[in-house]
This record gives sequence, C-alpha cells and structure tokens, in this order.
Amino acid sequence: MQAKSIAVVTGGAGFIGSHMVDRLLREGYTVRVVDNLTGGRLSNLAHLERTADFSLEECDIRDLSPDSSVFSDVSYVFHFAGIGDIVPSIEQPIDYMATNVQGTVRVLEAARHGGRATLKRFVYAASSSCYGLAETPTREDYPMQPQYPYALSKYQGEQVVLHWGQVYDMPVNSMRIFNAYGPRVRTTGAYGAVFGVFFRQKLAGKPYTVVGDGTQTRDFIYVTDVAEAFFLAAHHPHLGEIYNIGADKPQSVLHLVELLGGSVANGDVVFLPKRPGEPDCTWANTEKITRLLGWKPSVDFKTGVSIMLQDIDKWQDAPLWDADSIAKATATWFRHMDKK
Ligand SMILES: NC(=O)c1ccc[n+]([C@@H]2O[C@H](COP(=O)([O-])OP(=O)(O)OC[C@H]3O[C@@H](n4cnc5c(N)ncnc54)[C@H](O)[C@@H]3O)[C@@H](O)[C@H]2O)c1
Repeated sequence: MQAKSIAVVTGGAGFIGSHMVDRLLREGYTVRVVDNLTGGRLSNLAHLERTADFSLEECDIRDLSPDSSVFSDVSYVFHFAGIGDIVPSIEQPIDYMATNVQGTVRVLEAARHGGRATLKRFVYAASSSCYGLAETPTREDYPMQPQYPYALSKYQGEQVVLHWGQVYDMPVNSMRIFNAYGPRVRTTGAYGAVFGVFFRQKLAGKPYTVVGDGTQTRDFIYVTDVAEAFFLAAHHPHLGEIYNIGADKPQSVLHLVELLGGSVANGDVVFLPKRPGEPDCTWANTEKITRLLGWKPSVDFKTGVSIMLQDIDKWQDAPLWDADSIAKATATWFRHMDKK
C-alpha cells in the first residue's frame, strides 16, 4: 500500500490552522502539527485525539533545527504559526520579529531539509495588514505600507518565503488573509479582534465598544473558506504566487452590531476614539485567486455570524472589555501611532 502524503501545519492548534488540519485529514493526509500553544488551544484539536493520522509536536518554531524529525519526508507545509494580535505588537516588537520573521526562516529550513526529496508546496499565512492605508479594492500588486510591527513582521515573513523560493527553488505560495472569522477564533488574550470583544459583551449584556463611528468596513472571510484557499494553492501548479483571500464584500462594524442584535438607537453601543494607522476600509480584490485557483467564498457573512452565535457560550471565560480597559490596553498604540 502506498504511504499517505505528509502535511505539516505550523500553528495547527490555533484558529485557522486547526481548520486546515481538519481539511487535510478529510483528504487523507497524515497531518503533523507544530505548535507551542501560546495562542492555540488543545481543545481545537480534541476531536482528533483518536485519529491515527494526526500528531501534535509541542514546540516553538524559533527552536526548530533544520533536521527536525517532524518535517522528515514532508510533502506539504502550511505555515500559520505566529503572533497575531495587532495592538501588542507596538509594545513587543522583538517577539513579533523573532516569531513571525526569524521563526519563518526556521520553518523554511526545516521544510527544505526534511522535504528535500518530497516537498511539493510550502504555503505561508500572510496578512492584508501589509497594505496599510491602501486604495480599495486592493490588488496584490498595490504598494506595501505596513503601519505597525505586526504588519511589518508578516510582510517580512512573506519576503523570506518568496526569497527561499527564489534562492533554493522551494515551491512556495503566500496567502494574504483579510479578516478571518468563524468557530475557534481566539477567545482569550490581548485586546484585539472585534468578534471576541463583541461576543463577550453580548453575553454580559454590556454595550458594544465600537472604535470610530462604526462605519469603517472590514473584509471578513469565513475560516473554512480560508482553509479551502490554502488547500487549492497547495495543489495547483502555480508557484511563487501571492493571493488575496477576502470575501470582496466589506462589512461595517455597525452591521456586525446589528447582526448580534444590538442597536445604536437603543444605547447598545459606546463609541471609542478611532485608532490612527488603521484603515477605514479593507477590501480584497480577489480576481486573481478566482482566476488562477477557481476559489470563491462559499459562506456569506450573515450565515457565518449565525453559525458562530450557536457557540456564544464559549466566550464566557473571555476578557470583558469596556471603554476604560481598552483605553489602558491601547495607550501605547496612541502614543506611537498618532503622528499629528
Ligand atoms: N485571523 C486572521 O484574520 C488573520 C489575518 C491575516 C493573517 N493571519 C495569520 O494567520 C496565522 C494564523 O492566525 P490565527 O488567527 O489562526 O491565529 P492563532 O493565534 O489562533 O494561531 C496561531 C498559532 O500559532 C501558534 N504559535 C504562536 N507562536 C508560536 C511559536 N513561536 N511556535 C509555535 N507555535 C506558535 C499559537 O499557539 C497558535 O496556535 C497567523 O500567522 C496570522 O498572522 C491571520
């Protein structure tokens, strides 16, 4: 019997990575996860406890050596491990650069050596934040304007990946994810993603803390659609490509409040100062990924939000943010980002 192809998913205990793991196991791959569980959770993988083709290596990508056995005979690498919160990147730039840039070098080297006879594709989880305050809808060839260390670190990680493709002939692709949402999105940790903040506030019956006037829009994309895009990028012949992954349908923050049952007129919203350096609109031009990979999102925003609401109790232990605690958590941001 022919051995199954091996896929390594770094950051596979995290939000997007764990959905990638599910997708790959469904396709019959042997899946090895590399994760240090700083942001990820074992509960995201608990349903795989008895799955023979699945294993978890608890380790830090910054400590990987080129001869790491986890990568031996690997065919596909999906690199999601990284630190994702935007606001704390202003305070901890060393950690962000070490994990998202140098950590990516470590993963590439382990993949290059372990997969020297087998590697078919290395797919990197890049971020739309590299575009900064960009023209919209944003195409892959628009100028790079990272506004804060998280964005810079993810962009440099992407450059490292493409460079390894150029110098070492590694078969690489980079996927610029816009705003992913869906089940298993992180519920704890630093102040950040709007879903976690709003879900906990809804559970507690507290007002939604809306940054700016709430008319700003984000191109939210459902997590299984993201995993599908990575899967297609790994299996189509195109190499060295960068793809946007977004829904091409920006949604306003106030619309999300509405879908959660909140209303400005009823006093359910507290408005907070707009954060400098953050765009009014993120909006992916997805023409390229549709044309080259035949990918299109399949879950619309309203449906995605309603699926997430079925699990709202999981946010019971998440931090409950209010205007004061958010002001404290973002003080350094305003100090460094407000240049006017
Ligand atoms: N969620 C989004 O909207 C979004 C948008 C653009 C890019 N991305 C990128 O996609 C990737 C996954 O994001 P996510 O939202 O699933 O975040 P996540 O925090 O849920 O997942 C990241 C995973 O990486 C692991 N990790 C962190 N540092 C590590 C280290 N040093 N060694 C080993 N493992 C480590 C964490 O434990 C976690 O399981 C990240 O690289 C992120 O920058 C995400």
